Amino acid sequence: MERFAIEGGQPLTGSVRVHGAKNAALPILAASVLAKGESVIHDVPDLQDIQVMESILRSLGARVTRQGPSISVDPTPIHSTEVPDELMRQMRSSIFLMGPLLARFGSVRVSKPGGCTIGTRPIDLHLKGLKAMGSQIDESHGFIFCRANRLKGASIYLDIPSVGATENLLMAASLADGTTMIGNAAREPEIVDLANFLNKMGAKIKGAGEATIYVEGVPELMPAEHTVIPDRIVTGTLLVAAAITKGRIRLENVNADHLGVVMTKLRETGVEIEVERDIMTVKSSNRLTAIDRIQTSYYPGFPTDLQAPFMSLLTIANGTSVISETVFEERLKHVSELRRMGARIKVDLRTAFIEGVPELTAANVEATDLRAGAALVLAGLAANGTTIVENAHHIDRGYERIEQVLGSLGARITRIRD
Ligand code: UD1
Repeated sequence: MERFAIEGGQPLTGSVRVHGAKNAALPILAASVLAKGESVIHDVPDLQDIQVMESILRSLGARVTRQGPSISVDPTPIHSTEVPDELMRQMRSSIFLMGPLLARFGSVRVSKPGGCTIGTRPIDLHLKGLKAMGSQIDESHGFIFCRANRLKGASIYLDIPSVGATENLLMAASLADGTTMIGNAAREPEIVDLANFLNKMGAKIKGAGEATIYVEGVPELMPAEHTVIPDRIVTGTLLVAAAITKGRIRLENVNADHLGVVMTKLRETGVEIEVERDIMTVKSSNRLTAIDRIQTSYYPGFPTDLQAPFMSLLTIANGTSVISETVFEERLKHVSELRRMGARIKVDLRTAFIEGVPELTAANVEATDLRAGAALVLAGLAANGTTIVENAHHIDRGYERIEQVLGSLGARITRIRD
């Protein structure tokens, strides 16, 4: 078990580069099995979830090599389409392999992803979509088997604009026979990045980033080379890190277009942000002001993945802030940990009322999931004393060497190994 020790109170200063987006890299790596030959993906962060995806691809027989931030995937030697249960359990995103393996090889077996600490997270929309495209689906003994000689284009309407379901269906539809229409599709930038990669491979996708996506299936896809978009959640987390420590930092490799509502909300608190091409400078010096309403939503709404980090920031803002979590049912687990640090937060169902206090105090706290963990690290950066954040592995799933990144900006953070 690993934990972080953070001595708070150090304003962050300096410059860092933001790594590529985990949530774009994962489906893109899965999509690489659709190609006849070796694809090369650049700026893939070296994170635990990515390593699990690499392991799954290797276990199926694919040749996967990493050189620095670039990963090559050659699916030619794939001999199995059964995702090993133990790897599937380590990462929900292994579900992304369902669409591409089924479309390319005609069958796939995955285990049912279990409940997760932020909510139930079903996969009914993924399955309904694949069924509409002609896949036979059998569920038994905790496994899901899908079979289809050749998927057929279909009109699919998603009840919820699910990111994962949209991605899975995009990949499946790319090799289907005929045209697929995905209605009420997710519009996240990671969807657009995946569609760009698939189109480079020869897919015919129109409308990615909009609510209706059309995919004209093609008989085969070629390998492609692609650079993953910058991670907008890491960018948002670092913006909060500067704001919560009253620091001033410069972020390279950012896409401000992906962070509209996040920048708006930060500016509402009094944080100053300047953007020049792919560089962002963020500065905060005075006590920040509370925000009367943040409601998480689908893109371009406020990202649920930044809800917890923003809550940490608002615990020390002047006034009472209100945050409602609408995407996941159980995503307020950081509240009890922030309270241990002196935060004053009341919760009514999925809405948190945060009464800002002048200062947080250090405590031993526990990361329960990735973004909740990031929020506690942020709180620790601002708190008086040394905060211990248990379960560093959760944070490592989404932030590459976070202690080195924050350390390079002057934070006093160390990783402690048992
Ligand atoms: C992705 C992101 C995650 C982010 C989330 C929402 C990746 C690897 N992960 O997760 O970081 O928090 O989007 O922006 O990209 N739902 C169903 N049935 C389904 C699928 C989803 O009911 O078949 C529900 C979920 O329970 C949830 C909502 O839809 O309440 C949104 O989930 P979804 O967009 O699918 O999230 P993920 O793709 O899992």
